[in-house]
Amino acid sequence: MKTIIINGSPKGNARNSNTRIISEEFVRGMKTPCDIKCIANSDLEELAHHIEKYDTVIIILPLYIHAMPGIMMNFIEHLKPASIQGKYLGFIIQAGFVETAQEKYVERYFASLAKQLNYNYLGTVSKGEAAGIYMFPKMFKKVLKKINDLGKIYEETHAFDQNIIEELGKPYELSKIQTFLFQLLCDLGLNNVGWHKMLRQNHAFDKRLDRPFL
Ligand SMILES: Cc1cc2nc3c(=O)[nH]c(=O)nc-3n(C[C@H](O)[C@H](O)[C@H](O)COP(=O)(O)O)c2cc1C
Repeated sequence: MKTIIINGSPKGNARNSNTRIISEEFVRGMKTPCDIKCIANSDLEELAHHIEKYDTVIIILPLYIHAMPGIMMNFIEHLKPASIQGKYLGFIIQAGFVETAQEKYVERYFASLAKQLNYNYLGTVSKGEAAGIYMFPKMFKKVLKKINDLGKIYEETHAFDQNIIEELGKPYELSKIQTFLFQLLCDLGLNNVGWHKMLRQNHAFDKRLDRPFL
């Protein structure tokens, strides 16, 4: 089974792309590592044609504004239904917010997209709280290990491991206590410490409340 990984982040292969890190981790250690291609800066017509050579396509993407990034939508519009049966399409979505419930709409869309494109649906793996991976890779060692195991098991079984899907998908929604504690952090302004540091480093702190479109 020949598999291609499509990186759906607008950051493509940039050092600070979490999708790049997750894609590389998924294939690391495979006996025959899958090819990886980025949507960003690609000729979409050519890329859509290129993936037809593979039995399975796995698209790894970030969630942007509760949806898939625009370049990913654009790429989907270039895809044609598979001309033969037996092909597979799967997705790995990663996002900044903690709850993976926010990914459920795009997941439903992906399931129906696979059908429309005459692919078997391999499933969707969702991971929240992933924004810091490129900044603090050591803190995300366990998460990256799970992604690596997911890739290795995929190579052996040609399926996404259900236990790993479940583990990565937690929490689907925060409990009442977690929501209360998170609200407390927000009230104390502690949720913004890291973001404010980045804004200062980029000399953008004073502009953080700008509303350019109003
Ligand atoms: C423009 C933009 C919009 C985003 N919107 C969301 C969002 O709606 N929900 C969420 O959980 N994370 C959101 N994020 C966070 C990204 O999903 C997260 O940082 C992800 O790891 C980025 O992957 P990348 O570095 O490969 O692009 C957003 C990030 C950006 C830059």
